[in-house]
Amino acid sequence: MPPVDITDRIEQSTRADRPIRVLAKAVRRRIGPGWLRDLLHGVPLGKPLHPPVANVSLGLWAAAAVLDVTHSDPRAARVLIAGGIATAMPAAAAGITDWSVLHREQQRIGFVHAISNLTAFGLYTGSLALRMAGRERIGRMLSFAALGASGVGGYLGGHMAYRQAAGANHAESVSHLVPLGWHDLCEIGDLPEGRPVTRRLGYIDLFVLRVGGNVTVLADHCAHLAGPLHQGRLVSEDGMACVVCPWHGSTFRLADGAVVHGPATAPQPSFQTRIRRDGILQVRPAQT
Ligand code: FES
Repeated sequence: MPPVDITDRIEQSTRADRPIRVLAKAVRRRIGPGWLRDLLHGVPLGKPLHPPVANVSLGLWAAAAVLDVTHSDPRAARVLIAGGIATAMPAAAAGITDWSVLHREQQRIGFVHAISNLTAFGLYTGSLALRMAGRERIGRMLSFAALGASGVGGYLGGHMAYRQAAGANHAESVSHLVPLGWHDLCEIGDLPEGRPVTRRLGYIDLFVLRVGGNVTVLADHCAHLAGPLHQGRLVSEDGMACVVCPWHGSTFRLADGAVVHGPATAPQPSFQTRIRRDGILQVRPAQT
């Protein structure tokens, strides 16, 4: 059976839904809103933190495998394995934080991804202990098994990122779907006061909020996983008006769509507005 068929089956299987639900809830409760959660999501980086940190572990472990295969420098192999183990911990913390706010199908793949990586972590830890006890040969065998487990984990991680678009910017297409220049959107008089609504512009939905004579327009589908921002809460963060996504709580500044809190790491596309004399609201993509 092709590997992608296996991942499709995992995606559809409901068997592990109960532990997944309990674990995701526990992670969300443990890592509550705040700077740590934003850091683990990668908000300061502008992209998810988990993949680059995980790649460091994989790279170190792969390098150790090369030394093992060529039977060269056992001490360097030990250092590489220890480095991989050390960097796997922050990678896991970032990964499980992202995972706790994904769709269920993504969480099912992520659950198996985590089990594979946990297996690799345990095997590498055992391998390192054996090597340090002078049992080099069995330590090497354990490392090869660990590399296989981390390869499975990597494959599943790729499936999540590229097939299920976990961690991708779900508002990226907006700039390609809206031509530059001004576009008629709706009559200003049709917009309710102080309550976000959605309006369609060509192929995309827009979040539109009128407060007095000011109108704020953002892309409506959240950059995290495309949740409907117009159903979100309006809040004030450090004196700035923001909208909170109803799905997982990403918070965007209304003035320019900047991310204030994750899980989203990419800004929400924003639009400039003007009102024609006949009361038609026009919008154009904000220059970045
Ligand atoms: S869709 Fe997840 S925070 Fe908006």
